[in-house]
Amino acid sequence: MTLDTGYFDGMYEESADPWGFQSRWYEQRKYALTLAALPRRRYADAFEPGCSIGVLTALLAERCDRLFACDTSTAAVEQARRRAPGARVERRTMPQDWPDGRFDLIVLSELLYYFDDHDLATMLDRAVNALNPGGTLLAVHWRHPVPDYPHTGDDVHRALARTPLNCLVSHTEPDFLCEVFVQGEPTSVATAEGLV
Ligand SMILES: C[S@@+](CC[C@H](N)C(=O)[O-])C[C@H]1O[C@@H](n2cnc3c(N)ncnc32)[C@H](O)[C@@H]1O
Repeated sequence: MTLDTGYFDGMYEESADPWGFQSRWYEQRKYALTLAALPRRRYADAFEPGCSIGVLTALLAERCDRLFACDTSTAAVEQARRRAPGARVERRTMPQDWPDGRFDLIVLSELLYYFDDHDLATMLDRAVNALNPGGTLLAVHWRHPVPDYPHTGDDVHRALARTPLNCLVSHTEPDFLCEVFVQGEPTSVATAEGLV
């Protein structure tokens, strides 16, 4: 079963920052790698579901003209609004509240392993269909199994590889995967910059 809102509300009741996003070097380094993996300097319209307390959201907002972020937990949304004033942050539960519209960038960071098979397939379908031509989908996920989670990070990246998107960047290390997929023909950064 997909983990429900109550599961995450419980985590935020126990701690304002349950994963240590603000304090852990692991997270700071991973965010730096995540931002560095984005092939474009700037994006017009971006979407970040499962934004938690908005630490990555604030960093992404610096690279986006418009960033729409959401989280299923009210406590997380309240913090994200304060931490990332450059983003529009709403309480929404995926995949049923997936927003209308199209995006140049969708960021799925530490989110997809919470969904069961049906909801994971729906999330990937929504994401693929919400990307503008040439758009970027960035996914980053913890690889170690967590008993409560329906999937591992490796499971969800295997599912991403089966979508019609094309992989442009794949960073693998023992703890996490960070991959960039694009809608349409993948263009390397050097090609886009006229270097090759
Ligand atoms: C591990 S945090 C990821 C935070 C952020 N993406 C990052 O990488 O810094 C997972 C967040 O996803 C949210 N979440 C889990 N299931 C969700 C769902 N179905 N819809 C929206 N948000 C969800 C949780 O409330 C939690 O804040």
